[in-house]
Amino acid sequence: PLPRDIFPGRVNSAGVDLSDPLVREPLQAVLAEFDRVDSWIAEPTTLIAAATPTRQVRAPSNGALIGTCRDATPDDVDATITAAVAAQPSWDALGGAARGDLLDRVADLYEENRDLFLSICQREAGKTLTDAVLELREAVDFLRYYAAEARRLFTAEGEALPGPTGESNRLTLHGRGAFVAISPWNFPLAIFTGLVAGPLAAGNTVLAKPAEQTPLIAGYAIDLFHQAGVPSEVVQFVPGDGKVGALLTADPRIAGAAFTGSTETARAINRALAGRDGPLAQFVAETGGQNAMIVDSSALPEQVTRDVVASAFQSAGQRCSALRVLYLQDDVADAMLAMIRGAFEALVIGDPADLATDVGPVIDGEAKAALDSHIAAMKQTGRRVWQHDLPAGCAKGTFVTPTIIEIESIADLTRENFGPVLHVARFKADELDAVVDAINATGFGLTLGLHSRIDATRRCVQARSKVGNFYVNRNQIGAVVGSQPFGGEGLSGTGPKAGGPHYVARFATERVTCIDT
Ligand code: SER
Repeated sequence: PLPRDIFPGRVNSAGVDLSDPLVREPLQAVLAEFDRVDSWIAEPTTLIAAATPTRQVRAPSNGALIGTCRDATPDDVDATITAAVAAQPSWDALGGAARGDLLDRVADLYEENRDLFLSICQREAGKTLTDAVLELREAVDFLRYYAAEARRLFTAEGEALPGPTGESNRLTLHGRGAFVAISPWNFPLAIFTGLVAGPLAAGNTVLAKPAEQTPLIAGYAIDLFHQAGVPSEVVQFVPGDGKVGALLTADPRIAGAAFTGSTETARAINRALAGRDGPLAQFVAETGGQNAMIVDSSALPEQVTRDVVASAFQSAGQRCSALRVLYLQDDVADAMLAMIRGAFEALVIGDPADLATDVGPVIDGEAKAALDSHIAAMKQTGRRVWQHDLPAGCAKGTFVTPTIIEIESIADLTRENFGPVLHVARFKADELDAVVDAINATGFGLTLGLHSRIDATRRCVQARSKVGNFYVNRNQIGAVVGSQPFGGEGLSGTGPKAGGPHYVARFATERVTCIDT
C-alpha cells in the first residue's frame, strides 16, 4: 500500500487545469483585465511615520509600472515589534486547534482570490501562468499542512511521558515570541506564505519582510490573513530592503528568524541574531545550491531530455532546486547532448502573459547583469556555449536567454548562477565516486538528480552524496508539500524541511511539567 500522509484525509490543492479551455479562457480574460492595473500598493501594516518616498514596482517582462511600495521606516519597525511582542502571549494561548482553523481560512481566501494572485505573480515576478498556478497551489498547501501541524502538536494536554508510579510527566509545545520572516522574490507567494505560516502555527507572532522586488503580492497576502481573522498585531507586513531586515534582526526583542535567500544573507542574519542582547535566537534558513544531475549510460534519453530541460529552464532557472551542472557519462554524452540541445532550441522565450512562453524574464537588472557577466566570462575562456537569441519584443524586459555551457567539472564554478544557464560536464564510468565527491566539495547540499536504471548505482550515489533532496529518474524541481519536504544541508541551509513533519515544531519551545501525584 502507498504510505499515508501523517494527516489522513489531507489533500494538496487541485490547482488549475490549464489544458481545459473552459477553465483557461475565462481565466485569461480576467488576467487581461488585471493587466491594465498600475496602482497596486503595498504599505506597512502599522503606519506610524509620516509619508516617506514610495518605491515603484515594475514588471520584469517589460518595465511597466504596476504599483508602489512604501517601505517601513525605523519607527515603523520599532512599533511593529512592540505590537508583535505584546500580542504573542494571547496568540500562543489560543492553542493549536484555533490557530489551525484560522490558517485553513486563510487558505480558503487564497483560493477565492486566485485570479488576482495569479495576475500579480505573473506581472511582479515575471512568472509564466503555469508557474503562477504552481506557486499558488504550494502556498495553499503550506497553509493547510501547517494548520494540521498546529492542531497535531499544540494541544493543552501535550504528550504524556513515562515515569514512576505517582508521577505525571507531560511535554507541551509553545510559541517562542515574535519572529521575523524574510522571504525571497523567486517564490514571492509560496515561500513567503510558508515562512509566515510556520512560525504562526507554532504560536509566534510574525513580522513579515518580503523581498524588496516583490512586495505587492506579499502585501495582498497579509491582507487576507487579516480578513481571515488573524489579528493585525499577530502578523504584520514590514516591507523594505535589506536595511529593514537588518533593523528587525538586530532587535533584542526578536525571538528568531525564518529566512529563505542567499547563503551570504543567511550568514549576516545569523551574526545579527547572535550579536544582540536578549533571548538566544532560533534561526531557520534555506539558502542556495549548486545542484547537479548525474546521467549514466543506462538512462533513457527521452526521459533525461525532458527532465533536464524542466530542471534547468522552468521558472527561467530561478528555483533554488534548479539544475546547474549536468554530468553525462562520456560514452553517451554526445547523443544525449544532441537531444537536449534539440529540446533546448525549441524553448519559447517571451512575455509570461503569453501561454506559449516557456521562459520569461529574470527578476531584475542586477540579476541579469550577474548572469550576463558569467556567460561572457565563460565564452572568453573558450568553452563551447549555446545561447538563444533575444526575441523581438523582449528588449524592454530583463531577459537572459537560455544558455548551455560546457565545463570540465563543477569545481569550475565559483558561485550559484541563479537563472536559465545549464553547465554540462562529462565523466567516465569509473569516475562516479569522484563526481559525487566533487559535488559534495562545493559545500552546498540542496538537490541532486540521478538518471540510472542500475540499482547499485543509485545506492552508491545515495550513500555518498550529502544533499537534502535526491531525485531519481525524474526532474529535480517542484517539491510537493507533504510528499517531498524541501531543504538542504551545509551551505544550503539549516533545515528543517519546509512542508515536512519537523518544520513547525522548530519554531516552538518545549516545556515539561512533572507532577508528583
Ligand atoms: N521548493 C522549490 C522546488 O522544489 C524550490 O525552491 O522547486
